[in-house]
Amino acid sequence: MDRKEFLSIAGITAASFALINCMGCSKQSDNASAGITGPTGVDFTLDLSLSANSALLVNGGYLASKGVIVAKTTTGSYIAVQQSCTHESYPLIYQSSGQQFFCNNHGSAFTEAGVVKNSPANRNLTVYQTTLTGTSLRIFS
Ligand code: FES
Repeated sequence: MDRKEFLSIAGITAASFALINCMGCSKQSDNASAGITGPTGVDFTLDLSLSANSALLVNGGYLASKGVIVAKTTTGSYIAVQQSCTHESYPLIYQSSGQQFFCNNHGSAFTEAGVVKNSPANRNLTVYQTTLTGTSLRIFS
């Protein structure tokens, strides 16, 4: 039995089959436009004296922890945003040379303030606050 015979027996016409497929596409599109928000209730501390966090001792360095990207800008400020892209949740990277967060999946980019710079993402990133006390860097909502 080929596909056409199967669909005929099942009572599914080509038009209804296409409609079923389009329903799936519509749902995916809706999810994409709704965006992905970052974690809520964020409050954790990174000890910058630990080698695991040493990337944050260098201007332009960054790491990801608990769904958050924490970066040290080229001017030495600490910034933190949600790790997942607001388009389809792909993990972002920090690009200090372009002063932006970038998504390798479809090319969206966000400023260091989390604002959409390049689509297809159309929703800004959730931004977190940072406070440095000695070698303890607190990241919080
Ligand atoms: S997941 Fe599509 S641009 Fe990030």
